[in-house]
Amino acid sequence: MQKWSFNFRLWHWVHAIVILGLLGTVFLRKTFLSWRTNSELLTQKLTEIDISVTEAQAKVLAKAIRAPMWEWHIFLGYALAALLIWRIALFFTKSGKQNYQDFSRETFHKKLVKLSYLALYTVLTFMAISGLVIHFYEVLTLTKETAHDIKEIHELVYNAVLIFVPLHIMGVLLAENKDEKGIVSDMINGGKSG
Ligand code: HEM
Ligand code: HEM
Repeated sequence: MQKWSFNFRLWHWVHAIVILGLLGTVFLRKTFLSWRTNSELLTQKLTEIDISVTEAQAKVLAKAIRAPMWEWHIFLGYALAALLIWRIALFFTKSGKQNYQDFSRETFHKKLVKLSYLALYTVLTFMAISGLVIHFYEVLTLTKETAHDIKEIHELVYNAVLIFVPLHIMGVLLAENKDEKGIVSDMINGGKSG
């Protein structure tokens, strides 16, 4: 019997790629494609060729440059919502629930690790729901102000994802090199249960 079914491994790696992709879109939005930085750059470069634009016009241009990239945030966001539904279905399989059984017999460290997974699932559910609500705020007859307030919370909670990802990757790599040899390859080839 395998420790991780093919179904679960496929979920884990697709999910990992989608989350890294979402974090990538946020990174680009806040750095290379930041409208603040780019509107200043555009204003400066246009002035050099004798075209003057107002601050508002430069902002429109900078946001237009960012827009195709940000579409990926929404696209990957839909994928995340689908992945969470897939994860719920996996809870009804052996691979999907094994980490959350016999909890009291685990070491303190393992309890913390498993609680961090459950916390992540809660955080991601919030991110998916709040993200969809911001995206469809008009259909949901919400005001722009309400959508903006939800965005602020969406942005704040994002920090939890940002903290989880490097901790998780470092954690499994450390475990692989210490007392849980094969933990990473098990998630690749399925491993053996027991
Ligand atoms: C790219 C490097 C990654 C590696 C090598 C890796 C490896 C692993 C391994 C070995 C496990 C099993 C740990 C255990 O037995 O408890 C695991 C579980 C898990 N990973 Fe990753 N992972 C990676 C990236 C990610 C990313 C980016 C996410 C998304 C945030 C993620 C989310 C999870 C979750 C939620 C679990 C718990 C599964 C469960 O519910 O049982 N992983 N990962
Ligand atoms: C792990 C999951 C997610 C992370 C880490 C994340 C992160 C973020 C961050 C940090 C922002 C604020 C960007 C800024 O103003 O600088 C944002 C905005 C936004 N996110 Fe997400 N998000 C996630 C999931 C989703 C999902 C599932 C959707 C839904 C499709 C979504 C839709 C949006 C929308 C519509 C905005 C507002 C953009 C705007 O103001 O134009 N997000 N997200």
